[in-house]
Amino acid sequence: MKNLSTSGVVLSLIAAACPFTASAQGSATDEIAKYRQMLADGNPAELWEARGEDLWKKKAGPKNVSLEQCDLGKGAGVVKGAYAELPRYFKDTNKVMDLEQRLIECRTKLQGLTHAEAVKTPFGSVGNPSTIEGLVAYIAGESRGMKMAASATHPAEKRAYEIGKQMFFYRGGSHDFACATCHSASGQRIRLQQLPNLLDKKDAQATYASWPAYRVSQGEVRTMQHRLNDCYRQQRFPEPGYASDSLTALTMYLAKNAEGAVYDGPALKR
Ligand code: HEC
Repeated sequence: MKNLSTSGVVLSLIAAACPFTASAQGSATDEIAKYRQMLADGNPAELWEARGEDLWKKKAGPKNVSLEQCDLGKGAGVVKGAYAELPRYFKDTNKVMDLEQRLIECRTKLQGLTHAEAVKTPFGSVGNPSTIEGLVAYIAGESRGMKMAASATHPAEKRAYEIGKQMFFYRGGSHDFACATCHSASGQRIRLQQLPNLLDKKDAQATYASWPAYRVSQGEVRTMQHRLNDCYRQQRFPEPGYASDSLTALTMYLAKNAEGAVYDGPALKR
């Protein structure tokens, strides 16, 4: 029943996607606001959340175990509220990890996959769904309504935050852009897309606390990693390595700046 009605939602989204191209007035943000209203509380991300929950509980890998013993930072198997506190320092690996890095760790250590197997298909497409995007949607959804609380108190977390901050302001590439070039002023736009001011507390909170998100333009749930890759492309930088420590540092910077926001994802985005 749930699946049927949600695929109805997907269909109406496809039908509704046209105004984007037709819209000469109003920003993409206004259009998204309209879709949100149309959909009421339905979001195709629910499909990813449901699939992710199955993947979390299903025995898999050479060791044929589920991920239910995976420690996301709040103890083995605790999913509720775990996303709200990531990235964080993990003693067993002696490093700061974001959700995707931690899932790769659990899939290799617990389930016995090779690293290459665990990072296969980080970003899915029709007919080739991503296990990681499903898991991330489910785990993030289990923090809905909770306050974002990346602590950045452990020395390694503080260091990650500082590195992330430097990355945010680091200018380079053919256009000499930094993240800050596009995201440190309020009310800026590129074409019809509104650019969040990530140095403004409220904007930073509303932005970070909505990812991962179902992207209407892609028909997929995308993680923060994917969003950052997309922005590095906007910045004319090379694509960062998947699940790299530098992306985790940048995520730590964004997460800490969003501290106190009530998590409201996986959201619906352009
Ligand atoms: C050339 C301009 C440009 C640069 C440089 C840039 N971005 Fe973006 N960013 C965008 C655009 C355009 C969007 C999409 C806005 C939309 O879809 O409404 C976006 C979206 C985002 C979002 C999601 C916003 C939301 O509302 O959910 C985040 C987070 C973000 N950028 C972070 C970064 C970070 C971190 C960097 C540096 C690595 C960066 N951006 C560099 C243009 C840029």
